[in-house]
Amino acid sequence: MIKIGLFLSLSLSLFAVDGYSVYQKKCMKCHVEIMEKSEVLKVIHTLKAPPMIEVSNRLRENIIIADDDQDVKRRVTIAFIKDYIENPSVQYSMCHPMAIEKFGIMPSLKGKLNEVEKQAVAEWIIDRYRESKFR
Ligand code: HEC
Repeated sequence: MIKIGLFLSLSLSLFAVDGYSVYQKKCMKCHVEIMEKSEVLKVIHTLKAPPMIEVSNRLRENIIIADDDQDVKRRVTIAFIKDYIENPSVQYSMCHPMAIEKFGIMPSLKGKLNEVEKQAVAEWIIDRYRESKFR
């Protein structure tokens, strides 16, 4: 029994995925982690996408749940991010129209992240910027 327990906890820790490392591997080459608006305007020609802090803030502001239930809002936001990773589209984008004009629509990462990685990075995008405002 002890052996089985040890095996289980070892394999669980192997499968535990850290959202930040998924971000670093799959998103960071386009989305910088954090940058102030004034800085973005200065270096916009070097950027490939809106900074992740801006993405996170826009989702927080635009996804409105009728009775302000934070659990529901979190689930809807996670579902949106996971879907957007595979199916980015001008119809679904909540980005500023100017950002889309500048950067174009995100290329689909279909098949590049598994379910666990998508979940982990989506949660990280919400939690990382919980206290930060893009300004
Ligand atoms: C090749 C560049 C590139 C990579 C890699 C990339 N993105 Fe994006 N992403 C963009 C661009 C450009 C936009 C802005 C236009 C748009 O909304 O499609 C964007 C927008 C987004 C949005 C905002 C959608 C909205 O409606 O506001 C989300 C969410 C997002 N990306 C998540 C991710 C995640 C998560 C990853 C990594 C798993 C990732 N992106 C990797 C280029 C990229």
